Amino acid sequence: MVLTASVIGCGVGGRLSLEALTASPLFQLVAAADVRFEVHKSLQQDFPGLQTFSSHQEMFAQCPTDVVCVSTYAPSHESIVLDALAVPSLRGILVEKPLGDTAVAGRQIIEAIKARKLPMVVPHGLRTRATSLEVIDRVLHSEIGELRSIEVQCDKWDLLNAGIHWLDFCLAATGEAPIASVLAACDTSTRTYRDGMQVETVAVTYVENVNGVRMILQTGDFLRVNTPGKQILFRLLGTGGIIEFWAWENGYSILNAQYPAGQIIVPDEFPVFGHRRHLETLAEQIRSGTPAYRLPESSLTALEICEAAFLSWQHRCQVRFPLASFVPPAPSDWHPGKPYFGAGGGRDGRKLGQQF
Ligand SMILES: NC(=O)c1ccc[n+]([C@@H]2O[C@H](COP(=O)([O-])OP(=O)(O)OC[C@H]3O[C@@H](n4cnc5c(N)ncnc54)[C@H](O)[C@@H]3O)[C@@H](O)[C@H]2O)c1
Repeated sequence: MVLTASVIGCGVGGRLSLEALTASPLFQLVAAADVRFEVHKSLQQDFPGLQTFSSHQEMFAQCPTDVVCVSTYAPSHESIVLDALAVPSLRGILVEKPLGDTAVAGRQIIEAIKARKLPMVVPHGLRTRATSLEVIDRVLHSEIGELRSIEVQCDKWDLLNAGIHWLDFCLAATGEAPIASVLAACDTSTRTYRDGMQVETVAVTYVENVNGVRMILQTGDFLRVNTPGKQILFRLLGTGGIIEFWAWENGYSILNAQYPAGQIIVPDEFPVFGHRRHLETLAEQIRSGTPAYRLPESSLTALEICEAAFLSWQHRCQVRFPLASFVPPAPSDWHPGKPYFGAGGGRDGRKLGQQF
């Protein structure tokens, strides 16, 4: 069974789907939509026979397909997904990360797709790579003891657009244990934007899950990653060891009881990874009629963490989960580091055990 497929939004992310669909024997890539005409020409050159359209509505009307990949910027994902769900031929859908520009949009997308009982994938690459999957497996099998923290340093990328991949990885490495709270600080001095979204110049996001595991992400435009030569770093610290790896790079270092002097391990990469692996998983779910939503749900939690980080910075507060119950506190005139003169309310931090 070969599934017909189309892609909406044909930039960097869309091309990953276009190339994956072309490479896979399970799909026939037939159509693409992009609002920019100059994109159509290069698509027709690179993907001969591809029908191109200037809007997804036009494409759905003239060339409906079994599978649709939504690869526009996050703010348009929800309306495009809802339009796609109205197309009777649709049997499965890929929605790029971040699922939406808000957690509410992300939730609507998942609920609407579930209501049609359609398979769905969100292409987080680390879920398909030999190195990251082997690291997750070792951590879940307690090979570095009990996991205590995951530190991520990410140079030249922001929390929402790249950090969401890292958060999804953190969720996988912690068995998707629920999040307890998020606290974040963002410097926004350079007004940086990326992928259609305003983002931080530099930020620190501190996440705690219900088991006490900390996920600490430093993201932004110019960071000094403290393993020389690396642009992205993951450091997983357990009671019995440390693993370090570098996002898309193949290989990791491990220090534990089995490798007390430390060891670099380079697993063989899978023959199929990235978008193609996600799309082939989608094809399998379509074939078997068993949609699975665990990975999209994890992507949504990652989006909630991003949103919680921005709320934390905006309202100067720790954001406790579930995020849907978050109520912003009243604006505060309390400034850590300023003298306290005995007026203005507050509580005595020396008497916490007694009073509170
Ligand atoms: N999963 C991954 O590894 C990965 C990698 C890159 C990008 N992405 C995601 O892909 C999405 C797009 O980012 P990008 O890097 O491809 O951006 P991009 O600027 O390279 O491309 C976006 C394309 O979408 C088109 N577009 C915008 N609105 C549209 C609409 N309503 N209808 C049709 N076309 C429209 C633009 O003309 C452009 O060609 C983002 O959500 C991004 O996070 C994911």
